[in-house]
Amino acid sequence: PLLQPRAPELDPVKRAHTLRDLRAAAAKRVPRSVFDYVEGGADDEISLRRNRSAFERVEFSPRVLVGGEVSTGTTILGRPAALPLVLAPTGYTRMMHHLGEPAVAGAATQAGVPYTLSTMGTTAPEDLKGTDLWFQLYVWRDRGFTTDLIERARGAGYTALVLTVDTPVPGNRVRDVRNGLTLPPRLGIKTLLDGASKPRWWWHLLTTEPLRFATFDGDGSLAPSDIGTKMFDRNVTWADVSWLRETWGGPLVVKGIQSRHDAKRAAEAGADAVVLSNHGGRQLDRGPAPLELVAPVADEVGDRLEIYVDGGVRTGGDIAAAVGLGAKACLIGRPYLYGLMAGGERGVARAIAILREELERTMRLVGANSITDLDREKVRLRA
Ligand code: FNR
Repeated sequence: PLLQPRAPELDPVKRAHTLRDLRAAAAKRVPRSVFDYVEGGADDEISLRRNRSAFERVEFSPRVLVGGEVSTGTTILGRPAALPLVLAPTGYTRMMHHLGEPAVAGAATQAGVPYTLSTMGTTAPEDLKGTDLWFQLYVWRDRGFTTDLIERARGAGYTALVLTVDTPVPGNRVRDVRNGLTLPPRLGIKTLLDGASKPRWWWHLLTTEPLRFATFDGDGSLAPSDIGTKMFDRNVTWADVSWLRETWGGPLVVKGIQSRHDAKRAAEAGADAVVLSNHGGRQLDRGPAPLELVAPVADEVGDRLEIYVDGGVRTGGDIAAAVGLGAKACLIGRPYLYGLMAGGERGVARAIAILREELERTMRLVGANSITDLDREKVRLRA
């Protein structure tokens, strides 16, 4: 027969063709306060929006009739990666899905990209399995405790230490304040109403292991900003970057660089890489859009360290653009959390697969067969 009607696909993960689809599926799975915690930015969310709109300035200049095969493979910190992508650290992952960090690390390992465990994670560094795991560090007021964490990460085989430097104090996440979000979520009238239509999420919250930070004892339920204020050392300086260099000894990534000036300082302090990032618009509002810093920073220090970028990466075309402007890789935060919320490990795998397919297609259309073929001849930012 000419017409072969197919049964509609009901599985939201299989049905997702874009990260936007996964995001919509995620919103249906978790309470509003949890989705807002993932989705929100600081203050007026201007940075959050600009991170995204910067990608609309991208213009490709394709080369046609190139032929040959496309490969998205590259190296990140000298180790092979299936595509120029790293999963960014995100706190409290078991709140998004009861399987939490192990589900994300599993999908990352299957896909051949590094995954970064956050200091604010809900899985202990020793309990995570994966081939290329990075550990993200917040420096604690208690330096002995900080050294201890670094040693645990080294002992567990983590391949890079990521120092986040854009968080001397927690950003003002207005949505969380309005929603009265606490970590762990507290059972109250508001949370009950919020979660009433998400019974599966509540069932898992109540029946699986208790939600708690894996690296420290949170004392009861606290607002996310209070946790940060209590634990972070506000007086971390460049001298500490050198200290960490010595203490850790392995590849060191400085995450949250927002100027050429500081990228240069990171190189001088001996960092192996920087992440141009405004924490996904969750910290200082109205800093520069990280994508717009890639080319200037590459010109400044591109020969001295690897440059990564995050904030607003939502398609494989975005990755192609960032790489073309001079980034060695992109980090993603919300995109894999959408997948996780929508369907656990399968959802994360789907998010990465969508990005990989889109990247491959973009490379073919742009006429770049390898990651190194993506350059400023083929990518620019419109004025
Ligand atoms: C984050 N981010 C973050 N960064 C970090 O260094 N340590 C952390 O614990 C967290 N926690 C965290 C939680 C959630 C829910 C989000 C969305 C983000 C920032 C993250 O690593 C990354 O910089 C951004 O997520 C990148 O922007 P996109 O990809 O989310 O647009």
